Amino acid sequence: MSQAKKLRKAVFPVAGLGTRFLPATKAVPKEMLTVVDKPVIQYVVDEAAEAGIEHFVFITGRGKAVIEDYFDIQFELEQTLKARNKNAELSLLSGLLPIAGSASFTRQQEPQGLGHAVWCARDIVGEEPFALLLPDMIMNGEKGCLKGMVELFETHGGNIVGVEECAPELAHQYGIVGVGEALDGGFRITQMIEKPAKGTAPSNYFINGRYILQPEIFKILETQARGAGNEIQLTDGMLKLADSQSFAAYPFDGQTFDCGAKDGFILANVFFAMQREDIRPQIEEPLKALLAALK
Ligand code: UTP
Repeated sequence: MSQAKKLRKAVFPVAGLGTRFLPATKAVPKEMLTVVDKPVIQYVVDEAAEAGIEHFVFITGRGKAVIEDYFDIQFELEQTLKARNKNAELSLLSGLLPIAGSASFTRQQEPQGLGHAVWCARDIVGEEPFALLLPDMIMNGEKGCLKGMVELFETHGGNIVGVEECAPELAHQYGIVGVGEALDGGFRITQMIEKPAKGTAPSNYFINGRYILQPEIFKILETQARGAGNEIQLTDGMLKLADSQSFAAYPFDGQTFDCGAKDGFILANVFFAMQREDIRPQIEEPLKALLAALK
């Protein structure tokens, strides 16, 4: 096992079809939909950078080239901003750019499932542990979810998943973990079940779209049979990995929004706008008035 290795790389699978967000995702990848004034993917990349990630690996697919362009300079725009002395806008753009050589892009030609998307990162990640962030889940907390997971990883090694508590009646919609021995900042996982039948979930802790995985997952995914939805499922691969390696959970304390779904995306926009000093004063009262008028 490669537990002693430092966590340097993060994988962002962005090759999905985004069918829950049609028709918008016919032309725009869901990762590029904006929450306030930044694309969803920027929030997730920021979370990874806060956790100390040095290399950002994007698994893209057909129609996703705009994501690659977003992480590049925009020459004409920047020249125009310079000519107009728009220095604040210029430094905003340059501050968001990954340093040269720190972003890699590879293609998943067909969306064959999350497990298959992760497998596409095998050569770029190599023989070291890596973070995996599902880019449609965006989070807000005093400490970023991945940062907290990295702290747990640095003490305990192995594989780590981010978890949050859901209402018991919703547990059947999620990947749920069983709670074992308490650790400083988390707990050991006794089992993982994808979408347990109603009333059978071993806990209310669901996997929230953040993972730290050991590279042995790639060998497993290479031969992983198709599972639910006829897709190569990451959970099936993790279950096999759990036969030989430890898994721990990091309970994230904060707000999470599923921006791959319309309700989560709309709530995220309201929430992050209300966090902004330059926006909240303009929207707070109108928002209340709108809600009151809807009653
Ligand atoms: P989702 O199931 O949430 O994404 O996968 P999706 O398939 O795009 O969405 P819907 O259900 O059709 O609306 C979780 C993440 O895994 C990526 C997706 O882009 C998303 O970020 N993914 C999924 C891939 O990169 N490749 C796949 O084959 C499947």
